[in-house]
Amino acid sequence: MNVHQLRRVPLVAKWPVTPCRSASTKAPRPPKPSPKTSKPVIIKRRQATPPRQPPTPQNAQPETAETAKQGHGIPPRALTFLGISALTISMYCGYLYASYTREVSKAQTLDVPRDVSDRYNTTAATFDADVELSEKAMGLGKKRRDLVRQARGDVLEVSCGTGRNLPFYELGERRGTDADGRAAVLGCRSVTFVDLSPQMVAITKEKFGKLYPAFPAVFKACDAGAVSPSDIQRSGVKKGEVYFDTILQTMGLCSMPDPVATLRHLGSVTEPKSGRILLLEHGRSYYDWVNRILDNLAPAHADRHGCWWNRDIGEIVRESGLEIVEEKRWHLGTTWRYVLRPKQAEKSQS
Ligand SMILES: C[S@@+](CC[C@H](N)C(=O)[O-])C[C@H]1O[C@@H](n2cnc3c(N)ncnc32)[C@H](O)[C@@H]1O
Repeated sequence: MNVHQLRRVPLVAKWPVTPCRSASTKAPRPPKPSPKTSKPVIIKRRQATPPRQPPTPQNAQPETAETAKQGHGIPPRALTFLGISALTISMYCGYLYASYTREVSKAQTLDVPRDVSDRYNTTAATFDADVELSEKAMGLGKKRRDLVRQARGDVLEVSCGTGRNLPFYELGERRGTDADGRAAVLGCRSVTFVDLSPQMVAITKEKFGKLYPAFPAVFKACDAGAVSPSDIQRSGVKKGEVYFDTILQTMGLCSMPDPVATLRHLGSVTEPKSGRILLLEHGRSYYDWVNRILDNLAPAHADRHGCWWNRDIGEIVRESGLEIVEEKRWHLGTTWRYVLRPKQAEKSQS
């Protein structure tokens, strides 16, 4: 037998031979065979493991999901995603900040008049599309509905715009109970819609005709600060009647040149005892940092959209002298809801 033949002969032991277990070998020990059933054991020669090299740029292995889990625990795909997201967000924030500072410096150079209400004549056609998304995001539909559902009797909506409150009206009177559980007549006997912009009134009129074709309503392009119940010929209402039971306005105080005077006038045409003025408005926040942003951008916003969004609605209401029945705020304090009534005469002391 020469050397080459020797190599091909397997190394066989008659009695089981356990290979030497090095300290690093963690393979489970094979069960001890009983001497009766023992079979020859083939011993395979192990190749010597080369010593571990420290990682160098040349021999570095690419990190796999497995190795990443062993290290910091975050898979490389997730790390890449996080990195790209962080980069995108920081770029977007940078873009917002750059636009903000550009708008602020532009806004400071503008000479915008206090009365910007004429802007709605040109924006009427796109108004709904412009505000739809932000109103949805802020949940304003529900806030409109909750307010409009309180309208009853002879109702006047001022600054009606494109009629965004129309779907929430309860037209026609019915017997029911009020918020305090007392028997009351609910629903609207008549409805009158007023806006300074004829383009806005035309859109409200068209929408109303589609929603309530059988219900008569009045539409008029005029200043809310000059509206008179006796000027408005309402079906079913006695001639010469001087009061409305409910006056509704949503997002209107921001657009008027003299909101305090307008509110005072509306108070004078509201039924003195049980009449209510319902407002849903937007304006200053509880927070100084929000107000700073509103103030900085106000001239540019008013010039473009016809609305002074930094007005103190609470201050306007207090100055009007109307009595506050209910006050609520949302969205960092920028959305305001009021239920008001005409100032009640002091009871005479007897
Ligand atoms: C921001 S929009 C609000 C429209 C609508 N009320 C709403 O909630 O979507 C303001 C509206 O107020 C109207 N407006 C401004 N000044 C007014 C005034 N003095 N009398 C009546 N309407 C006025 C504008 O023409 C515009 O339609």
